[in-house]
Amino acid sequence: MKTTLILNTSKHPNSYMFVLPIFTKSTSGKKTGQKKVPAALDLSHWSKDLKNEFKAINASKHFKGNNGDTLTFTKGKNTYLGFGLGDAKQIDGETFRREISKLYKAIKNKYDDAVLLLDGVLDKTNLNIDEIVYTTSESISLTCYGFEKYKSVEAKSKDVLQHIILSFSKVDKSQQSLAKNALKRADIISSSVNLARDFVFEAPNILDSENFAKEVASDAKKIKGVKVKVLKKEHLKKEKMKLFLSVNAGSSKDPNLVHLSYVPSKVTRNTPHIALVGKGLTFDSGGYSLKPPASQVGMKGDMAGAATVYGAFKAAVLLNPNAKISCFLGMTDNAISKTATFPDSVIKARNGKTVEILNTDAEGRLVLADVLSYACDQKPDVVIDCATLTGAISVALGNQICGLLSNNDKLCENLKVSANNIREYIWRLPIIDEFRDSVKSEIADLKNVGKNRYGGSCTAAAFLENFVSKDVAWAHLDIAGIATDQTHLPYCPSKGASGLMVRTLVHFLTSYEKQ
Ligand code: BES
Ligand code: MG
Ligand code: ZN
Repeated sequence: MKTTLILNTSKHPNSYMFVLPIFTKSTSGKKTGQKKVPAALDLSHWSKDLKNEFKAINASKHFKGNNGDTLTFTKGKNTYLGFGLGDAKQIDGETFRREISKLYKAIKNKYDDAVLLLDGVLDKTNLNIDEIVYTTSESISLTCYGFEKYKSVEAKSKDVLQHIILSFSKVDKSQQSLAKNALKRADIISSSVNLARDFVFEAPNILDSENFAKEVASDAKKIKGVKVKVLKKEHLKKEKMKLFLSVNAGSSKDPNLVHLSYVPSKVTRNTPHIALVGKGLTFDSGGYSLKPPASQVGMKGDMAGAATVYGAFKAAVLLNPNAKISCFLGMTDNAISKTATFPDSVIKARNGKTVEILNTDAEGRLVLADVLSYACDQKPDVVIDCATLTGAISVALGNQICGLLSNNDKLCENLKVSANNIREYIWRLPIIDEFRDSVKSEIADLKNVGKNRYGGSCTAAAFLENFVSKDVAWAHLDIAGIATDQTHLPYCPSKGASGLMVRTLVHFLTSYEKQ
């Protein structure tokens, strides 16, 4: 799919289909007595000819102009699609993103090329030109995404839509540059979301911990200014990452810790250093604490945390952030074999704390523990880890909200601002002393599960906190509930990888200022 911007001309290829937004008048549509009267249509941004043509169609009498309503008509040789957007003043970035996504789905099998005539959106909604261009282009790229590499030609989707033009007919110089930048930004960010999705969709027999590291390293090497280091099994041993290695003990593949770093060209005392940490379990069988078969399906996506932070790192770096960014991805699978770790084992973490492993399926926190301690040694101001860590997060927050647990209020506020900005949902859960006590072991410093299953996402975070330096602001994002199957979001695949939180993290990384 190609999306281009055409400014200050009303001349477009005639063979294209033209999309014309239709609004409803906000003053009408109120209840009068018994019946709710439909709001009158607002077509004032259309040319007189088009308005007349539209009104002449009998079916236009039925057209309500609500979100998602469409009506096609022709004028001369051109085809037009009236595209209902409801009350213009009610439209915000997210409603617009969703409507564009639905529009894309409505036309993708019918038309080869389309022009979106967006003057009305600019004139009547509260959205600026950069928001309109950014949201439209991002929504199109996120919606047209599909993971089809394993499908034969016959089974692949048959979308015909190739090219979409975003057209504004009267914009000034400053709007032109805003629009052009917004298009570039949307391309960078949506490509990174789609890259993260590709990793999560990929099968575990293909994307194992060795190939995942190779793929990320070779991709990262192509980004200007990024240094790539891959710590292999021997390195991990030297680093005393025995918790990480214990998860890998049953695997036929080597573990890898991918360490990426970016330093901006101008560094001052005020340049912040942000570290990202990702859980990269290429498959989680549960180990000896084996998951039941139905719960194993989908566990190829247990590396979504690593995919998410890599996507965010890549997009942020391409947008020239004013921050040093380091990215640490802990990659292994969690398998069973004669060498796999037994429940009841006691293992010493990189930071010296001993951990009693009571459940080998609580493996993500073991990998993160050692990687967090390694990341903190690089002296970042902020560490954010992202992980499909607990099934309990879906019980607590549903499958629509990302869990946030942290040792720092200001960092939480900043992350919430970023999430709100692009309308992803994020909600903070507490870490209290009772949860800290819950992960204390009778025979070692810590155990890797809480006293009982209640508050499972909170006790997991209480465990992780032990591996974060006290002077580092830390946030943990539990994405187990949102990493896949975001059926309610039209711009996400209804089954499989969502790519959520990449955009929140990109916003955070590119706007963060040293506190
Ligand atoms: N990878 C899982 C968490 C998960 C569950 C991700 C569902 C995506 C969907 C994690 O490693 C795990 O198994 N957690 C256990 C922890 C428990 C043993 C304390 C869980 O949530 O059941
Ligand atoms: Mg597990
Ligand atoms: Zn897991």
